[in-house]
Formats: sequence, structure tokens, C-alpha cells
Amino acid sequence: MLKRPVRPVTATALLFCFALLLYRLSCGTRTRTRSDRPAGEDAYEALLQQHERQYLLYTANLTKQIWQLKKDLKQRSVIFPPDLEERSRSELEEFMQNQLRRAEVGSGEQLQNEFAVLPFDSFTLRRVYQLETGLTGHPVETPLRRDRRNELNGALEAALHLLNQPQAGDSRNRRTYSPQHFYEGIFRTERDKGTLYDLAFRENSVPDFRRLVFFRPFAPLMKVKEEFMDTSQILINIIVPLAGRVDAFRQFMHRFSEVCIGQDGRTHLTVVFFGSEKMDEVKGILDVMSRRMKYRNVTLIHLNEVFSRARGLDVGARAWKRSNVLLFFCDVNVHFTADFLNSCRMNAQPGKKVFYPVMFSQYNPEIIYGHHLPSAEDQLVIRKDFGFWKDFDFGMTCQYRSDFMNIGGFDASVKGSATEDVRLYRKFLRSSLLVVRAPSRGLFHVWHQTLCHAHLSTETFKLCLQSKALNEASHSQLGLMIFHQQINNHLLKHKQS
Ligand SMILES: *[C@@H]1O[C@H](CO)[C@@H](O)[C@H](O)[C@H]1NC(C)=O
Ligand SMILES: *[C@@H]1O[C@H](CO)[C@@H](O)[C@H](O)[C@H]1NC(C)=O
Repeated sequence: MLKRPVRPVTATALLFCFALLLYRLSCGTRTRTRSDRPAGEDAYEALLQQHERQYLLYTANLTKQIWQLKKDLKQRSVIFPPDLEERSRSELEEFMQNQLRRAEVGSGEQLQNEFAVLPFDSFTLRRVYQLETGLTGHPVETPLRRDRRNELNGALEAALHLLNQPQAGDSRNRRTYSPQHFYEGIFRTERDKGTLYDLAFRENSVPDFRRLVFFRPFAPLMKVKEEFMDTSQILINIIVPLAGRVDAFRQFMHRFSEVCIGQDGRTHLTVVFFGSEKMDEVKGILDVMSRRMKYRNVTLIHLNEVFSRARGLDVGARAWKRSNVLLFFCDVNVHFTADFLNSCRMNAQPGKKVFYPVMFSQYNPEIIYGHHLPSAEDQLVIRKDFGFWKDFDFGMTCQYRSDFMNIGGFDASVKGSATEDVRLYRKFLRSSLLVVRAPSRGLFHVWHQTLCHAHLSTETFKLCLQSKALNEASHSQLGLMIFHQQINNHLLKHKQS
């Protein structure tokens, strides 16, 4: 049974097949060399195959999009309390979906100017950063009002609940999220519609975030979106227009090295320098930094013109020739943290969103601290007597280059009473892009001397002094300065008695 001799019939059949194969091979080559097939047939067949491949890809793509849309639709489900009746449930759901549609969630509403904007507040696990400070007047606080504490906790709990839910078909070992994974969130209330929450949670590796958007239409919460955000590939091109100001620039670069190179590692710096005075010094500072930190992502542009911030930013943005990039319009007096860079990445999205953070403006440190100045790093605190949210300033912004170009950039031809920053901001407000305006815990305007020149008209000179006073110290600190004579008298009297 193991080895049977090959039967003659099988052997003949095999031999025949072999001969046939040989014949076909040789004939095949001959037919092709003689090319008696119609000339374009091969090309035509290749074309057909190519078309078929394209259609297959196209249908695969459509299937994927349908799947995504279905998923989005399902995600917009309402989280109901379990005891709600079936009928009222559908009515309520319809009402809530309506509210969500009316609210400014997915795309921007067209607004006339900066006064029509509803800004967000931002928050972390322990703090709320708020533009409307209420009775306490604190720019940041642990929420004292119970309703506020409950609403934020409610949103966080709902998010954690969803994140930790086991998912069908997901066999990977999912991690457990705890409140400690909460990175930051922004929220705002449209009084006739409801509250929007946009929450970011840290993933395992630092540059990744999981992001959840909720809407609370004056009814139970509903989930709007859940997405995974990989910010590891998002490079930020930081543009700084500059004229003179070498000392401020040296300080700026000191912090830049620490934050952007030491901590973040995904930035490019574009400095647009005006004039010729001090140009060599600025170049020297950049060269030293570049060599010491082995950082090559620097562009220095020189313009022999009178300083104009808008012009500098425009030239800086246009100078970028590679693919689309996230721009951060910055200033030499501005200090920011690595957290801020992440907020910048999370709150801007090409074609969808631009980020207009509100920075915390520091008062004159000599008035706050007297002669014992802490380090610049230690001065980055958000407290009532240390500074204020500069919510009338629209100069700092994170936006994709494509959005900046599509909206027409800084438009030098249009003149008006508003500054160029404000005009750009208004253009975004009037567009269908969502403008995210929120206080940023990692963005600081560092105090510097305001010069009110003597050659100004008295009216302008007074306005300049008023603005200087706002930046100088808080209301009560200014009061103490005005009344210092009375305080001294009081001290004297007590010493004598
Ligand atoms: C799938 O379709 C989308 C939207 O039309 C398009 O942006 C994308 O490039 C397509 N992808 C492929 C692989 O064709
Ligand atoms: C420099 O730029 C490249 C992209 O152009 C980026 O991948 C890289 O992370 C940047 N390096 C640093 C240190 O920021």
C-alpha cells in the first residue's frame, strides 16, 4: 500500500499534459511576438482594470463614510434617566435635538463684532478660569457656587462613565479613566439653548488626548461627539514680529528654549524683524540658541520697514511654504506654557475652528511684589491682585494657515478705526468658522512700561494714561497708592501713642 507502481494509463496522461503545456508555452510566446491580437487590446484591458480598482476604492470610501455617519448619528443619543416613559421620551429627544441644532456647536454662527461673542470659560479638575468673575472678583477659583460645581462634576462624571464603558467588539484591554486623566475643558451657556462642554482627557502617551463634547439643553446631558486626538504630529509655527526690544527678546527666547524645545518639541519659530538697528544682536541670540539646543526650526525674516505687527504676522504666515501648518500669532511680551501649546492644538481645526485665547495680563511687578521680585517663572500666577484677563485684546490667536489665507489675512487695504487684530477677528466672526474664545491658564502678558509720549495731543495723552493705569495695578492697589499719605499719617499716630 505504501508505494504503488505508477499505472501505465496515468503515466500516458501525465506525458500528454506535459506535452500540451510545452506546446502552449512556445505557442504563447510566438503569438505574442507575432502580435496577431488587436493592437490596443492590452492597453484597453489595463484601463478597465484600473477603472475597476478605482471604483472599488471609491465604494470602500463611501462605505466607510456611511459607517462614520451612522456612528455619529448614534452617538448623538440622549442619556436618559431610566424611569422616563416611552412616549414622552421621543418628544423630549426631538426637543433636545432641536436645541442642539440651534446652538453654535459644529460650525460658527455669523456675528457682527466682538461684542456679540459668547466666550467660553475653561476649567481643570480643581479650578475654573472665568472671565465673568461674579461677587468674588477672582479670575480663577475653585467653584464656590453649588450649581456650578454640580454641573461641571456632572459633565465630568458622564464623560468618565462613557470612557470606561466596555465597548462591543473591542477586545483590546481598555484602560480605566479616572478624574486624574482629565486634562482641561471649556464650557459656555447659550441662555436660550443650553450648555456646551468640550472635555479633553489624557491618553497613555502624553501628546494624545481623548476628547468628548457634551451638550446640556436645559434637560439631561447629551453626547455630541467622541474622538481620539493625536496631537503628536501637529507642528505649531510661532510667529513673533519684532523691532528693537532686544532685552525682551532675550527673555522670550529663554522661555522659548525651555518650553518649546525642552518640553514640547513640536514647534517652529518665525521671527519677523523690522528695521536694521539691533538686527545683529537678534540674529546672534537666535544663533546661540539654535546651536546650544540643536534646534533648526527657526526662520528669521528681515523687513526694512516701519514696524507693523499685522504686516509682520502676514509676512511670517506667507513665508511658510510646506503643507498647511498651525500658526500661533505671538508677541515678544507674551509668555506661555507647554499646556498652552496643547490647548492651541486642540482648539483649532482647519476649516472648522480658530482659537482666540484670552491671556492673563500681569500688573507691574514692582507694585505687586515691592523690592523682592520672584523669578519670571514664579510670577506666572493667576490671581486677582496680580493681573486680569485681557479680554479686549485679540492679538494672540491659533489658526491654521489655510484658514488665515482663505479669510484674506490681514487686509491692509481696508482702513477703519479698529486695529488690524480686531478686523481679522471680526472676519472670522462673520465667517462660518467656529471662534473659540476662552481664558487660557497658560498664556501670560508680561508687564512692560507703557510710554505715553509728550508730543501726543492732551486728549490722546489722557487716554494713554488711562490704559497705562489699567495695566499698572488693581483698583485697590491703585487706591492704596493714592491714599498712601493717609496711611503714613495713621502709622505715625499709632507709633506716637
Ligand atoms: C474619501 O472621500 C473623502 C471625502 O470625499 C476624501 O476626502 C478622501 O480623500 C477619500 N479617500 C480616498 C482614499 O479616496
Ligand atoms: C522641527 O520641525 C519638524 C517639522 O518641520 C518637527 O517634526 C520637529 O518636531 C521640530 N523639532 C522641534 C524640536 O520642535
